[in-house]
Amino acid sequence: MTIKTILTEPNKILRQVSVPVEKIGKEEQVLMDDMLETMYMAKGIGLAAIQVGVPKRIIVMDIGNRDKEKEPMYFVNPIIKNKNSKHSTYEEGCLSVPNQFAEVNRPSSCEVEYLDYSGNKKILKASGLLATCIQHEMDHLEGILFIDYLSKLKKMMIVKKLSKQKNKVDRIVV
Ligand code: NI
Repeated sequence: MTIKTILTEPNKILRQVSVPVEKIGKEEQVLMDDMLETMYMAKGIGLAAIQVGVPKRIIVMDIGNRDKEKEPMYFVNPIIKNKNSKHSTYEEGCLSVPNQFAEVNRPSSCEVEYLDYSGNKKILKASGLLATCIQHEMDHLEGILFIDYLSKLKKMMIVKKLSKQKNKVDRIVV
Protein backbone atom coordinates (compact mmCIF):
# COMPACT_ATOMS: atom_id res chain seq x y z
CA MET A 1 0.00 0.00 0.00
CA THR A 2 1.13 3.52 -0.75
CA ILE A 3 0.80 6.50 1.52
CA LYS A 4 -0.34 9.42 -0.64
CA THR A 5 0.31 13.11 -0.19
CA ILE A 6 -2.75 14.95 1.13
CA LEU A 7 -3.35 18.23 -0.68
CA THR A 8 -4.04 21.24 1.50
CA GLU A 9 -5.83 24.55 1.08
CA PRO A 10 -5.17 26.72 -0.88
CA ASN A 11 -4.69 24.14 -3.65
CA LYS A 12 -6.99 24.59 -6.65
CA ILE A 13 -7.31 20.84 -7.20
CA LEU A 14 -9.37 20.64 -3.99
CA ARG A 15 -11.96 22.84 -5.71
CA GLN A 16 -12.54 20.43 -8.59
CA VAL A 17 -15.84 18.60 -8.89
CA SER A 18 -15.13 14.85 -8.86
CA VAL A 19 -16.56 12.58 -11.55
CA PRO A 20 -18.57 9.38 -11.00
CA VAL A 21 -16.76 6.05 -11.12
CA GLU A 22 -17.94 3.96 -14.05
CA LYS A 23 -16.75 0.61 -12.81
CA ILE A 24 -15.08 -0.50 -9.60
CA GLY A 25 -12.04 -2.43 -10.72
CA LYS A 26 -8.62 -3.23 -9.34
CA GLU A 27 -7.41 0.34 -9.90
CA GLU A 28 -10.23 1.79 -7.81
CA GLN A 29 -9.75 -0.79 -5.05
CA VAL A 30 -6.02 -0.08 -4.86
CA LEU A 31 -6.87 3.61 -4.64
CA MET A 32 -9.32 2.92 -1.80
CA ASP A 33 -6.69 0.84 0.05
CA ASP A 34 -4.13 3.62 -0.35
CA MET A 35 -6.61 6.28 0.72
CA LEU A 36 -7.53 4.33 3.86
CA GLU A 37 -3.88 3.82 4.79
CA THR A 38 -3.16 7.51 4.14
CA MET A 39 -6.14 8.49 6.30
CA TYR A 40 -5.07 6.27 9.21
CA MET A 41 -1.52 7.58 8.98
CA ALA A 42 -2.77 11.18 9.12
CA LYS A 43 -5.11 10.29 12.01
CA GLY A 44 -8.21 11.39 10.15
CA ILE A 45 -11.66 9.77 10.18
CA GLY A 46 -12.54 10.45 6.55
CA LEU A 47 -10.83 11.12 3.24
CA ALA A 48 -12.09 11.87 -0.27
CA ALA A 49 -10.11 10.87 -3.36
CA ILE A 50 -9.73 14.48 -4.48
CA GLN A 51 -7.72 15.14 -1.29
CA VAL A 52 -5.01 12.91 -2.74
CA GLY A 53 -5.44 14.54 -6.15
CA VAL A 54 -7.79 12.01 -7.78
CA PRO A 55 -11.06 13.60 -8.99
CA LYS A 56 -13.22 10.49 -8.56
CA ARG A 57 -16.33 10.20 -6.39
CA ILE A 58 -14.73 7.94 -3.79
CA ILE A 59 -14.67 8.35 -0.01
CA VAL A 60 -13.16 6.25 2.76
CA MET A 61 -14.08 6.64 6.42
CA ASP A 62 -13.54 5.01 9.78
CA ILE A 63 -15.26 6.63 12.71
CA GLY A 64 -14.66 3.67 15.02
CA ASN A 65 -12.69 3.69 18.21
CA ARG A 66 -9.04 3.86 17.26
CA ASP A 67 -7.97 1.50 20.03
CA LYS A 68 -10.33 -1.20 18.89
CA GLU A 69 -10.59 -3.03 15.61
CA LYS A 70 -10.60 -1.02 12.42
CA GLU A 71 -14.01 -0.40 10.86
CA PRO A 72 -13.31 0.94 7.39
CA MET A 73 -16.17 2.18 5.22
CA TYR A 74 -15.98 2.78 1.47
CA PHE A 75 -18.37 4.95 -0.49
CA VAL A 76 -18.31 5.10 -4.28
CA ASN A 77 -20.64 7.49 -6.16
CA PRO A 78 -22.54 8.38 -2.96
CA ILE A 79 -25.82 10.27 -3.19
CA ILE A 80 -27.46 11.88 -0.17
CA LYS A 81 -31.18 11.43 0.32
CA ASN A 82 -33.68 12.47 2.98
CA LYS A 83 -31.68 15.02 4.86
CA ASN A 84 -33.18 15.77 8.26
CA SER A 85 -34.45 19.33 8.65
CA LYS A 86 -33.06 19.25 12.17
CA HIS A 87 -29.44 20.30 12.32
CA SER A 88 -26.61 19.45 14.64
CA THR A 89 -23.31 21.17 15.27
CA TYR A 90 -19.85 19.68 15.42
CA GLU A 91 -16.48 21.29 15.62
CA GLU A 92 -14.97 20.15 12.33
CA GLY A 93 -11.46 19.88 11.07
CA CYS A 94 -10.11 18.55 7.78
CA LEU A 95 -6.90 16.89 6.69
CA SER A 96 -6.77 19.42 3.84
CA VAL A 97 -7.13 22.35 6.26
CA PRO A 98 -4.52 21.32 8.82
CA ASN A 99 -4.81 22.39 12.45
CA GLN A 100 -7.87 24.57 11.87
CA PHE A 101 -11.21 23.87 13.50
CA ALA A 102 -14.61 25.52 13.43
CA GLU A 103 -18.21 24.78 14.31
CA VAL A 104 -20.38 23.76 11.36
CA ASN A 105 -24.15 23.11 11.23
CA ARG A 106 -25.38 20.23 9.13
CA PRO A 107 -28.53 18.09 8.90
CA SER A 108 -28.42 15.78 11.91
CA SER A 109 -29.26 12.67 9.91
CA CYS A 110 -29.48 11.54 6.30
CA GLU A 111 -29.60 8.53 4.01
CA VAL A 112 -26.78 7.74 1.64
CA GLU A 113 -27.02 5.56 -1.44
CA TYR A 114 -23.66 4.31 -2.67
CA LEU A 115 -21.59 1.44 -4.02
CA ASP A 116 -19.34 -0.39 -1.58
CA TYR A 117 -15.78 -1.69 -2.08
CA SER A 118 -17.03 -4.59 -4.21
CA GLY A 119 -19.49 -2.51 -6.23
CA ASN A 120 -22.63 -3.59 -4.38
CA LYS A 121 -25.39 -1.02 -4.09
CA LYS A 122 -26.03 -0.04 -0.48
CA ILE A 123 -28.14 2.35 1.53
CA LEU A 124 -26.94 3.71 4.84
CA LYS A 125 -29.02 5.55 7.42
CA ALA A 126 -26.60 7.89 9.13
CA SER A 127 -26.96 10.06 12.20
CA GLY A 128 -24.68 11.79 14.68
CA LEU A 129 -20.98 11.83 13.86
CA LEU A 130 -21.48 9.45 10.93
CA ALA A 131 -23.99 11.81 9.27
CA THR A 132 -21.75 14.83 9.74
CA CYS A 133 -18.68 13.00 8.52
CA ILE A 134 -20.29 11.65 5.35
CA GLN A 135 -21.70 15.10 4.53
CA HIS A 136 -18.29 16.71 5.08
CA GLU A 137 -16.67 14.13 2.78
CA MET A 138 -19.35 14.48 0.13
CA ASP A 139 -18.73 18.22 0.07
CA HIS A 140 -15.17 17.40 -1.02
CA LEU A 141 -16.63 15.70 -4.11
CA GLU A 142 -18.18 19.06 -5.03
CA GLY A 143 -15.01 21.01 -4.31
CA ILE A 144 -16.41 22.39 -1.06
CA LEU A 145 -14.42 22.70 2.17
CA PHE A 146 -15.88 23.23 5.66
CA ILE A 147 -14.31 26.69 5.81
CA ASP A 148 -16.70 27.73 3.02
CA TYR A 149 -19.49 27.73 5.64
CA LEU A 150 -17.70 30.26 7.83
CA SER A 151 -17.89 34.03 7.65
CA LYS A 152 -15.77 35.65 4.93
CA LEU A 153 -13.43 37.12 7.52
CA LYS A 154 -12.93 33.88 9.43
CA LYS A 155 -12.31 31.95 6.21
CA MET A 156 -9.85 34.58 4.98
CA MET A 157 -7.89 34.38 8.22
CA ILE A 158 -7.62 30.61 7.98
CA VAL A 159 -6.55 30.61 4.32
CA LYS A 160 -3.98 33.33 5.06
CA LYS A 161 -2.56 31.31 7.94
CA LEU A 162 -2.30 28.19 5.78
CA SER A 163 -0.66 30.09 2.91
CA LYS A 164 1.94 31.44 5.32
CA GLN A 165 2.67 27.97 6.67
CA LYS A 166 3.15 26.72 3.13
CA ASN A 167 5.60 29.47 2.19
CA LYS A 168 7.69 29.05 5.27
CA VAL A 169 11.18 27.99 4.28
CA ASP A 170 13.09 25.34 6.14
CA ARG A 171 15.36 26.59 8.87
CA ILE A 172 18.81 25.11 8.93
CA VAL A 173 21.62 25.55 11.40
CA VAL A 174 25.05 25.02 9.91
NI1 NI B 1 -12.14 17.14 4.90
